[in-house]
Amino acid sequence: MIKEDSVREVIEMARVEDIVGDYVNLRRRGQNMIGLCPFHNEKTPSFNVNPARNIYKCFGCGEGGDPVKFLMTLEQLSFPEAIRKIAARYNFKLEEVEVSEEVKEERREKESLLLVNEFARQFYEDQLYNTDEGKSVGLSYFKSRGFRKDVMQKFGLGYAPFKRDALFKAATAAGYKPEQLDKLGLIRNKKDFFFDRVMFTIHNLQGKPIAFAGRILKTNVKAPKYVNSPETEVYHKSDVLYGIYQARQSIRKLDNVYMVEGYTDVISLHQHGVTNVVATSGTSLTPGQARLVKRQTENVTLLYDGDKAGIKAALRGVDVLLIEGLNVRVVILPDGEDPDSYMQKVGTTAFEKFLVDSRRDFLFFKSDLLLEEAGDDVAARSEAIRSSISTLALVDDPLKRQGYVQQFSGRLGLEESLLINLVNTAVAERREKAKRDAEREARRRQRGPVGQRPARRQKEGYDHAPFPGTPPPNSAPAAAPPPKADSSDENWAGMEDMGWAGGGEEDGWGGPPDAYFGPEPGFGPDPGPAPSEDSLDRVGSPLILTGETYQELDLARLLIRHGSSHYDEEQHLSVGTFLTRNIADLLNDFDAPIARKVVLMVMEVSANELAPPPEFFLNHEDEKIRQLAIEATTKKYSMSPNWREKYDVILRQKLPEDNQRAYADNFLRIFRMEKIDRKCRENIAKIKELDRAGDEDGLILHLKVQQQLDQMRKELAAELGTVIL
Ligand code: UTP
Ligand code: MN
Repeated sequence: MIKEDSVREVIEMARVEDIVGDYVNLRRRGQNMIGLCPFHNEKTPSFNVNPARNIYKCFGCGEGGDPVKFLMTLEQLSFPEAIRKIAARYNFKLEEVEVSEEVKEERREKESLLLVNEFARQFYEDQLYNTDEGKSVGLSYFKSRGFRKDVMQKFGLGYAPFKRDALFKAATAAGYKPEQLDKLGLIRNKKDFFFDRVMFTIHNLQGKPIAFAGRILKTNVKAPKYVNSPETEVYHKSDVLYGIYQARQSIRKLDNVYMVEGYTDVISLHQHGVTNVVATSGTSLTPGQARLVKRQTENVTLLYDGDKAGIKAALRGVDVLLIEGLNVRVVILPDGEDPDSYMQKVGTTAFEKFLVDSRRDFLFFKSDLLLEEAGDDVAARSEAIRSSISTLALVDDPLKRQGYVQQFSGRLGLEESLLINLVNTAVAERREKAKRDAEREARRRQRGPVGQRPARRQKEGYDHAPFPGTPPPNSAPAAAPPPKADSSDENWAGMEDMGWAGGGEEDGWGGPPDAYFGPEPGFGPDPGPAPSEDSLDRVGSPLILTGETYQELDLARLLIRHGSSHYDEEQHLSVGTFLTRNIADLLNDFDAPIARKVVLMVMEVSANELAPPPEFFLNHEDEKIRQLAIEATTKKYSMSPNWREKYDVILRQKLPEDNQRAYADNFLRIFRMEKIDRKCRENIAKIKELDRAGDEDGLILHLKVQQQLDQMRKELAAELGTVIL
């Protein structure tokens, strides 16, 4: 670490005209100097340097600061890096303070890992250009795709040979330790992780190789097209964008970045002169990636394939970017094209023209798309508008938001005042959620570092704390599973006292006891007056159903259609088992008897084996169950309209077919959240009543319940806040 005194000296030593002058041609103009701004594209100079005050300022793009800031921004340096660079420029010897051994060790470790990766990159390149196999297989492939050598070198393309220990042997012979290769995911069990593939190097912002991706060339094998390095000490996928190093300067200059999906898209566009491109590499955009971009530009254009997956990815990406305060536009390519293929097809000029002509603002992209899907269906249309509004509410700048509202209302023929109202509500809800997130963060910090916290509840089928307020049916131990790993947590301490935590099973798999599955009327305490049996018949008229009934039916459909899918293969846990176990404590709060019945059926069957398959329900003796099963299995899966903004969370997930586990997790959280909300309302009413009646004991009990409900609500809200993507 640099000594504080040294830092101060360097800051005083640095002259803005020197530091800026190393990059920009400066001319005198009176007291000041001017030049062409290095941060944005301009033809007439608006970049001013003021030597007297030792600062710079661009009147074109607004960038400004002192010499240190200049280097940090332009070269993407950290503060100490900038200080070191300035010291070197003036031949100043920095005094260092001792860094703790721990920190030093960590730094050494990371640096040495990066060196190993550097070796691997060179190895793969050497294989590509200098071996017969590499040339005939890898190089000829890249050539067939039209990649130029200079671009291939810029992106560190290479070749991993067929032999499964080629890298392992070369690296260990060169003195690198197997443990390090292992840590980087380059080898597994002394065998190369990447083999018989063309290689793509993934660089960090400073251009160091942090990971690799290998593309298969054979078409007749059942291996994934790309394999990517695993998460390592130097590679955190969610904070990395492919191509950021090669693109960063042009992103700053053009003040815009194109985000594409594929490695080859980046390379191809780059070669054709569109160099402000990065790729998300097949994953959904993350907040970390959005922040990485924001350090370069505020303007993002998503450039995705015209297929369903591309459009879905674009929809998800929009919100993530908006939350980070970026300006988002979307371009969808003609169906069947990806950026690479389209560029090859039409060439740079037509490509760029296409980008300009067909880019759309995020809002209209989303609303047009959803409205088109909705067709004439009134409920679906209003849902589409709601969902678009929730996206619009993510725009933090009120002026920008107002601009969108005006355009949007004109376009939809909606009254502006109504739209403003809806947007304001959505904004308030979002703020409320942000507040809850902040509270959760504070709580987390209070609890201390991760390692000292009790482990999170394991997903062994029980993911949630039991529901207070009602004892579980028959007080059956397994009905309300205890928050096992978390039970030491103070937040849950009250639970046991109140006798609701129950014993629970240790393996999470034994299934609830028999008492649970008696004939329905005998099920637990009196569930109270049941709503009419015909809830299902009214599905067609959404206005009559309450939101909760809708959700319960959605739950039933989910159980029917996907209940027998794996939630966790290793633990032989099915989606149906997982969901019903976590909903057991809510059964008395069901409004739709048929949904409750389905839950019970799944519980019964899954006590001994995996949850029942759709056929089980399709062949059921009860006509209503059959009807529901037909609906669940034939209709395209969709959530009910009045899940309102929560629907949005689901929408951003992959369809259940792709992602059973995440889907079930989210479904469960939202379902429980709704029930907890209702319980809160009921409990608060009860508290008021007891207060009026002067019932001290009852009051204390219900206040305690309220505390727990609030806590559960917070926890759930926090989880909901983090599940997006
Ligand atoms: P694509 O299948 O669109 O591939 O996946 P591509 O980039 O166009 O590659 P070419 O043109 O067929 O060679 C888009 C991105 O998704 C990730 C990769 O980052 C890929 O570039 N991906 C895809 C994977 O990580 N694994 C896969 O199996 C497939
Ligand atoms: Mn492609």
